[in-house]
Amino acid sequence: MSTDRSPAYASSLKWDAVRGEPYLQLPSFPDLRLIPYREGIASDLVTLFNHPPVGCRLFALPYPMSRVFADQLELDILAKQAPILEKLSNSKKTEGIGAVWPFKALWSESQSRVVGDIFIWPNTVEPMWDDARQGRYQAGQATEKGSITEESVVSLPPAEQSWMIGYVLEPELYGQGIMSETLACILQGWVKPIMGVGEVAAIIAVDNLGSKAVAEKNGFTYRREEVTQWPEDKGGGVKVHGYYTWQSST
Ligand SMILES: CC(C)(COP(=O)(O)OP(=O)(O)OC[C@H]1O[C@@H](n2cnc3c(N)ncnc32)[C@H](O)[C@@H]1OP(=O)(O)O)[C@@H](O)C(=O)NCCC(=O)NCCS
Repeated sequence: MSTDRSPAYASSLKWDAVRGEPYLQLPSFPDLRLIPYREGIASDLVTLFNHPPVGCRLFALPYPMSRVFADQLELDILAKQAPILEKLSNSKKTEGIGAVWPFKALWSESQSRVVGDIFIWPNTVEPMWDDARQGRYQAGQATEKGSITEESVVSLPPAEQSWMIGYVLEPELYGQGIMSETLACILQGWVKPIMGVGEVAAIIAVDNLGSKAVAEKNGFTYRREEVTQWPEDKGGGVKVHGYYTWQSST
């Protein structure tokens, strides 16, 4: 990522006065912004997540994704984001809001539709990689895998929290630098200045060169191998991934 764009990424956080909510404006793509979940976008998500290059890459979501599943997802995410957006709209200030994630959809203003999806959640795989402890969890955390919960992660001071990120884009928009810039705005415009968390992690398949490039261009570094039993609906078998992290201090 060239350094001269950094101020633009750092100031990508904007306020939608009509809707009373924040958004992240991509500086090089005036039509694209990262917005909170919006009622009625479930059908856009069905289209997005059912593009084969997208659906096959996702571990946790069903493929194909049904409308029923997307409707439930919509309800769950609206419920989760409502208190965060309420706080933000009351004060119109992000100061002190803490480690929260109010966004969801990469939105085309001209087409009024979702063209990408980004989600960030507390990292329960490995909450804070610590070289000195050779991968053991930070003090105050359980030391066995599987016993970490989202609640235990967010109970830590933000700087000791690790969050996980996942991102997808509509195939017809690949290769224009859109997700690289989206991630830059997320990290520099929200995660670093507002959430203040110490680390963001991404699990990326070794053959996913596009995702690897997006992460590395934004300062993520490879930490170790992650071997996963892949869901049968996405081809099954064992898949090798890389575990990457971005540290806010770098
Ligand atoms: C991964 C993904 C988000 C990349 O989005 P994108 O907007 O096309 O990425 P960018 O255009 O910002 O590309 C960043 C870099 O990766 C390179 N790249 C992109 N796709 C690539 C591919 N398939 N193979 C090799 N390099 C690729 C670009 O050339 C660019 O490099 P450059 O800056 O040196 O030119 C998109 O391909 C996608 O949604 N894939 C399916 C879902 C997915 O895999 N999500 C990630 C799960 S971990």
